[in-house]
Amino acid sequence: MILEVKNLVLRFYTFDGVIHALNGVSFDLEAGETLAIVGESGSGKTVAMMSLLNLLPVPPAKIEQGEAIFYDDKGQVDLLRTTKQERCRIRGGRIGYIFQDALSALNPVMTVGRQISESLTEHLGMTYAEAYKRTIELLKHVGIPGAKQRYKNYPHQFSGGMRQRVMIAIAIACNPKIVIADEPTTALDVTVQAQIVDLTRQLQKELSIAVIWITHDLGVVAGIADRVLVMYAGSPVEISPVDDLYENPRHPYTKGLLAALPRMDQSVRKLVSIEGAPPDLLEPPRHCQFAWRCSLVSERCWQEIPLPVETGPRHFVSCFADP
Ligand SMILES: Nc1ncnc2c1ncn2[C@@H]1O[C@H](COP(=O)(O)OP(=O)(O)O)[C@@H](O)[C@H]1O
Ligand SMILES: [Mg+2]
Repeated sequence: MILEVKNLVLRFYTFDGVIHALNGVSFDLEAGETLAIVGESGSGKTVAMMSLLNLLPVPPAKIEQGEAIFYDDKGQVDLLRTTKQERCRIRGGRIGYIFQDALSALNPVMTVGRQISESLTEHLGMTYAEAYKRTIELLKHVGIPGAKQRYKNYPHQFSGGMRQRVMIAIAIACNPKIVIADEPTTALDVTVQAQIVDLTRQLQKELSIAVIWITHDLGVVAGIADRVLVMYAGSPVEISPVDDLYENPRHPYTKGLLAALPRMDQSVRKLVSIEGAPPDLLEPPRHCQFAWRCSLVSERCWQEIPLPVETGPRHFVSCFADP
């Protein structure tokens, strides 16, 4: 075990009211594994990850409850209660982050080479010359041709796919234990997407990094994840090893997501979609958040919040309707 998140509750206190963004998120991560987090836009995938690294603006964000224990070589630390010094060491050092939008995550007025080497001098205490050498290696490693010339380029001189490779180089530069990839391929076209997925998988094998891969696309997940966490309206509804999730989805929402995937082996042309819209997060959850959209809804679903039940090896589902 390398990370253990327990009952994470996060709210945003805005002028329009309190947004219940995360309502008790729990999951763990084994060393070297890939956990995919899937769910519709707005389900809390990004804020869950950002809260782990203290990247959310406080206020409006407030962590109300929970812990996130990171088991590092140097002992364990609760990521939600770090000192400033620990935060600096962990963020970008022990845990790398690949943002969805590389262009706005990179510094536009600093060369790409310096952005990588700076993290090496800062976190690993390398000299300038050592960091330069390592940066060139990293650029080559993530498949950027002409690394020496590219070192001196600015982010806008790279294509979208190449910028995402730079983000990956920054994320892995300091030999992290975990890399969080937040929809890293969403802005890219399909062939480049596939390249980035392949690159991540290859690096992960070589470097045995645990990866948390966030996506709204269950199609990408099959090829990359060991386990999948399905989020709905700020709550985890199902977590399972990937094969079992595809073969034996338990939660009606997961079933809906899978049914919405276009499949090569079926002649059905029409894409299925899940009826209805996600709930308003301004209301505190008092019952199953999926009840409004669920075809299996019963009285109990409107009265209680379902807790996770283990329905198979490492397969948990939060649903009253599950047989
Ligand atoms: N800075 C913020 N202020 C207020 N609400 C926010 C802020 N950031 C995110 N949220 C809200 O938190 C919820 C979850 O957002 P997010 O984690 O970005 O979803 P996802 O990544 O799954 O698409 C959304 O309802 C969003 O509006
Ligand atoms: Mg997001």
